[in-house]
Amino acid sequence: TESNLIRNFSIIAHIDHGKSTLADRLLELTNTIARRDMQAQILDDMELERERGITIKAHAVTLKYPAQDGQVYTLNLIDTPGHVDFTYEVSRSLAACEGAILVVDSTQGVEAQTLANTYLALENDLEVFPVLNKTDLPSSEPERVLEEINTVIGLVDTAHAVNVSAKTGENCLEVLEKIVQCIPPPKGDPKAPLQALVFDCHYDQYRGVVCLVRIVNGTLKAGETMHFMATGSDHRVDEVGVFSPKMTKVDELTVGEVGYVTGSIKTLADVKVGDTLTHALSNTTRPSTEMLKGFKELQPVVFAGIFPTNSEDYEGLRDAMDKLRLNDSSFKYEPETSQALGFGFRCGFLGLLHMEIVQERLEREFDLDLITTAPSVRYHVFLTDDTEVDVDNPAKLPPLPRIARIEEPIIEATILTRPDFVGGLLKLCEDRRGLQQRLEYVGKDRVMLVYELPLNEVVLDFYDKLKSISKGYASFDYHMKGYRESDLVKMDILVNGDPVDALSILVHRSKSQAMGHGLTVRMKEVIPQQMFDVAIQAAIGAKIIARTNVKARRKDVLAKCYGGDISRKKKLLAKQKEGKKRMKSIGSVDIPQDAFLAILKVE
Ligand code: GTP
Repeated sequence: TESNLIRNFSIIAHIDHGKSTLADRLLELTNTIARRDMQAQILDDMELERERGITIKAHAVTLKYPAQDGQVYTLNLIDTPGHVDFTYEVSRSLAACEGAILVVDSTQGVEAQTLANTYLALENDLEVFPVLNKTDLPSSEPERVLEEINTVIGLVDTAHAVNVSAKTGENCLEVLEKIVQCIPPPKGDPKAPLQALVFDCHYDQYRGVVCLVRIVNGTLKAGETMHFMATGSDHRVDEVGVFSPKMTKVDELTVGEVGYVTGSIKTLADVKVGDTLTHALSNTTRPSTEMLKGFKELQPVVFAGIFPTNSEDYEGLRDAMDKLRLNDSSFKYEPETSQALGFGFRCGFLGLLHMEIVQERLEREFDLDLITTAPSVRYHVFLTDDTEVDVDNPAKLPPLPRIARIEEPIIEATILTRPDFVGGLLKLCEDRRGLQQRLEYVGKDRVMLVYELPLNEVVLDFYDKLKSISKGYASFDYHMKGYRESDLVKMDILVNGDPVDALSILVHRSKSQAMGHGLTVRMKEVIPQQMFDVAIQAAIGAKIIARTNVKARRKDVLAKCYGGDISRKKKLLAKQKEGKKRMKSIGSVDIPQDAFLAILKVE
């Protein structure tokens, strides 16, 4: 396709404002998918995405649109997720586009991720135009919301705004027309040495690594040898193609086009998302010497251990993590050994939801049974000998006498809400040791709060609390601000007198008493009764600050079966085995997954 007939765009929005629904309509209107094959949110093809109704991975699809000017345009749509944990997916999608559609729910208004994603788009020099969605609802107020976009964001061109209902399809054709008119075609030289941005990839059992690429300069064909500039690996191109929306082979990919390339790549380390793809030197091709500007690589902020409940699954877990990481470059891991849990991995995530998703994907896609330990942030620990160590695992904190001081990560959080909920939200932020930076009205019924908060107060249940206090009418976004000294103490949890390394946490001294009490109470609720009493204690150093007791089970369940029929006994045993899922024996005590995450549920 000639590049002036190509438009590469992304849809950005706050969660639930209707990106995926709008994408469905655009696919339908361009006959990319026949009506009868249409399922809701066709791009959300991951099982987990359908169940949770959220977009986790970015997707790419090619549409053919016959515009009013009589020309047929190729529109490459790259769908993006909206949750704060998945911003990295947004930024890499944007790197492959010239423009973005900003979808805003006209019954709600500008939310925290509306702002965050728009800033990302503007930083990437994209052309952005607003689409006000859900106009079929009686509470829709597109004028008010447009005004809000003007006041809060300012830099977005609201003159080209389109009002639509993605649900009924009303006015969605106008969106296609605006894409052609407002978003510039890609620039680039098809004769220049090949430069393609690898913006995503995944592993396919038959084809090996499938890379999603955006061609910036040059042309790529099957049979040529491609060279990944950052990893230095060379591979013969098996196939190039586009997503329409199924993978469809094409003869070549050229300037401005978005598609996939395969090369029977089995070594995962050969490919890195964000890398530049060029040709290897040959009789007909010459490599580019210049790498494209990749996108910001994000550093994980939340860390936790992941262990197989069955230690024989360790190698399988490593293999699964290698494959998952290919598809999720923000997921980091390294081997770790825990006294209590054995061999596993210390993992880094972009947030709690990300952590939850990773555990679920590993379990489902690779059929593993795993235990995740309590999430921690990364602390800067300054020692008395003037050296510094980074600690993201409380069990690895150096002995107290060696510590001079500890600094904790601080974030700047932006919250958008309605005036009625400001009081409750201020209290929440203060309870979480927050420092207020700003409080201002940004529209008739909209208030923006900006707070500095310690990240360790946010990773636990801040987001859930925010949602419940505001009845869902508050949105939240944050970025790292820096580090600040803090009075933190290490709290150990003892099970029948033995400290369990995987349960240690760092807490602010002012909160340690309440946390110790809450944790032991919560653990008592989730640890099943055993054959004997189980004492659970919280301790700071040698001092026990809280204690609970799980009473012994009264009768052995199997006792009832003596003399009874054998099939019932078998069933009971099978049931007990089932109940052992996500359960780990520590000493002689069976501890379930919930106990390791008890800290997330402490009142
Ligand atoms: P994520 O993929 O989770 O980031 O959300 P999203 O922005 O893609 O939102 P999605 O398309 O999943 O829509 C969220 C909800 O709003 C769904 O229940 C849709 O059915 C509904 N919805 C989307 N567009 C409209 C609309 O125009 N009118 C009405 N009434 N509902 C809509």
